Amino acid sequence: MTPERTGSWKKLTALASEQVRSEGEAPAPLTIDAAGLHADLTKQRLNADVTAALIALAEERRLAEAIENQFTGAIVNGTEDRPALHSALRAPSEAIPAVARDAPRVMAQILELAEALRNGRWRGATGKAITDVVHIGIGGSHLGPELVVDALRTRADQAPAIHFVANIDGEALDQALAGRDPERTLFVIVSKSFSTLETRVNATTARSWFLERTGSLEAIGRHFVAISTNLEAADEFGIPAENVFPMWDWVGGRYSVWSPVGLPLAIALGRQGFEAFLGGGHALDQHFRSAPFGENLPVLMALVGIWNYNFLGVTNQAILPYGERLRLLPDFLQQLIMESNGKSVHNDGSAVALHTMPIVWGGRGTNGQHAYHQLLHQGTRSFSADFILIGKGRVLAEHHRWLNANALAQSQAMLQGQRSEDPHKQVSGNKGTTTLVLPSLTPATLGALIALYEQIVFCQGVIWDINSFDQWGVELGKRLAVPIHEQLGGRSALTQDTSTKDLIEYLRGSAGG
Ligand code: F6P
Repeated sequence: MTPERTGSWKKLTALASEQVRSEGEAPAPLTIDAAGLHADLTKQRLNADVTAALIALAEERRLAEAIENQFTGAIVNGTEDRPALHSALRAPSEAIPAVARDAPRVMAQILELAEALRNGRWRGATGKAITDVVHIGIGGSHLGPELVVDALRTRADQAPAIHFVANIDGEALDQALAGRDPERTLFVIVSKSFSTLETRVNATTARSWFLERTGSLEAIGRHFVAISTNLEAADEFGIPAENVFPMWDWVGGRYSVWSPVGLPLAIALGRQGFEAFLGGGHALDQHFRSAPFGENLPVLMALVGIWNYNFLGVTNQAILPYGERLRLLPDFLQQLIMESNGKSVHNDGSAVALHTMPIVWGGRGTNGQHAYHQLLHQGTRSFSADFILIGKGRVLAEHHRWLNANALAQSQAMLQGQRSEDPHKQVSGNKGTTTLVLPSLTPATLGALIALYEQIVFCQGVIWDINSFDQWGVELGKRLAVPIHEQLGGRSALTQDTSTKDLIEYLRGSAGG
């Protein structure tokens, strides 16, 4: 049965036409502590009837069964005929389903490599220690590692510096290579498929850069490693087998920060830090698997999302981290959420008759307050927002108090609004927001936060009956880019639609293709 046919969906539709709260009524507190995170959903537009109907919806959609299916390795990605077992990567070995049993062995190698790079045991071909790691990968092979390294790295770290290259724009690689000493640089090529255009082009150029400077094919063995499911392609690229670490079909790219793809985390945080990160994710999983729905953080946040998007007409979801070190969180969550749940057919291929995930966007507070928050307070579009706060900052306590004061003031303004005789100064308020607090920003709390959003995405996929683990929509653009690239370079006749043809001609004329 499709979601909108369930009894609870109908009940929620009726509840949405009623006023959730009478004016001036203080919202009933709704807070949850889980896996070291504190969440306050009190400012969401909920009441007891709505919460009960949302939980009934989760039950009607058999969410409990779906959660068990995820953890036990059932095929939850039907179009690719695979389980989605990223949770196994953060679980103790005795809890890992059979299909993922190889993971601890490979992860031990990854941690060993990271330690060898940190303490200088891994040396370049000329015997020099590695000072710089250039990580080449895109999407899920980039966003998670960069977020975690950017969030947790400290200046005191002795570990090699890590430079991320994702964009095919040569500016990205050029910046990463500027000033690098090839004898002290390690390239990590991360591509689950080893066929992603951007990564292949960047990796090929990096390889030429290295060979031009060292003149030694043999040296590749000390300066290039790869992480991929496609061991053959990595071999063809010239990376020796002992430097290629496997990935597995049962880990989706955007869920792969826990896997060998997380090598940069291990380099930056060391073994202990990486294990604490996994531990935070696992703690969240344990809570998710065992807490009753009414006290279950991922489940409740997922249900609140459904209420906002499907019943209250919310068309966009803002991610507002109040923390400079979490500035990359919106980028990471955009891929995680929109690549997972930006779908318009059910698991059986039939068209959905409801809205799935709205647009996710965001940016760091307080900067956003002086940019787009005007629209949030007085614009005509409906939105909901997640405020993400850090209880105890690392530096400059007074700055941190101001930071958190601003976060609380913003969510309060969004709830209360402001009455005024002057319509220009009127602020409607009544916007649904959730505030998540990490007591401090550590590997464990960041691991829990990332796992939290992964599981929210999963729950929403189950409620909507869509496949959160495929991404067929991105294939078309990839295919179309190939002949356009040929035609831009004048290597084949123009065969495009009128607009694209004109643009190709213009680009060829202005920039030499
Ligand atoms: O284009 C989308 C995508 O397939 C993502 O899902 C993935 O994270 C990214 O490309 C990179 O893929 P790969 O790791 O295979 O290079």
